[in-house]
Amino acid sequence: MKRTILTLTSLALAGTAAAASLGEKVDQNVDDSRATIKQFATSLQGELKAAMQEGGPTQGISVCNEAAPRIAAEASESYGGDVSRTSLKVRNPDNAPDGWEREVLQRFDRLAERGADPKKLDHFEVHRTEDGGREFRYMKAIPTGEVCLTCHGENIPASVQETIDDHYPEDEARGFEKGDIRGAFTLTRPL
Ligand code: HEC
Repeated sequence: MKRTILTLTSLALAGTAAAASLGEKVDQNVDDSRATIKQFATSLQGELKAAMQEGGPTQGISVCNEAAPRIAAEASESYGGDVSRTSLKVRNPDNAPDGWEREVLQRFDRLAERGADPKKLDHFEVHRTEDGGREFRYMKAIPTGEVCLTCHGENIPASVQETIDDHYPEDEARGFEKGDIRGAFTLTRPL
């Protein structure tokens, strides 16, 4: 995985002893972030699948609508920071990216266009906070799979479309094709 320039710069500035411990902290944060995402994705997919089997995509939408924010809140608590999903084309405006997230998402798209595997795209940085502390930020791309197309693809069934429009009048998260980057997991916590 690529270390970011920012991380390397902070390491260089921090001096050897401090740098070693910052490096360890960063490694730990990367591991924790990946584990958190795995858990988050598994819970979400589990609930979505169960709902779709029980009541079709319409039921799936209510699961995404209620369960996605709830599972994100649970993941945030155990991570000790903020865990959510974002995209350049969001369904829920609450998931809109901030400036940094937008840049990383655009970078993921550029890398994928040049042939990178979306499943393997991730990125992290250490940022200074306004109060002089440090925070760790991590993002991991989410590829569009076949099952996603019912609700995010080009040809969304009319009944599904109707339910989406009811819940998300400003929806932009449609028109995706299999293999496109749908968005990313995004995590932030104090370092
Ligand atoms: C049953 C319909 C349905 C299916 C299938 C579905 N989604 Fe979604 N998706 C939604 C809804 C509804 C939301 C908005 C959730 C919310 O309110 O936070 C959403 C939100 C998202 C978001 C958060 C960003 C945003 O647009 O608000 C991502 C990322 C996402 N979906 C990816 C996927 C991926 C990847 C798949 C396939 C593995 C998938 N979705 C399958 C309905 C669906």
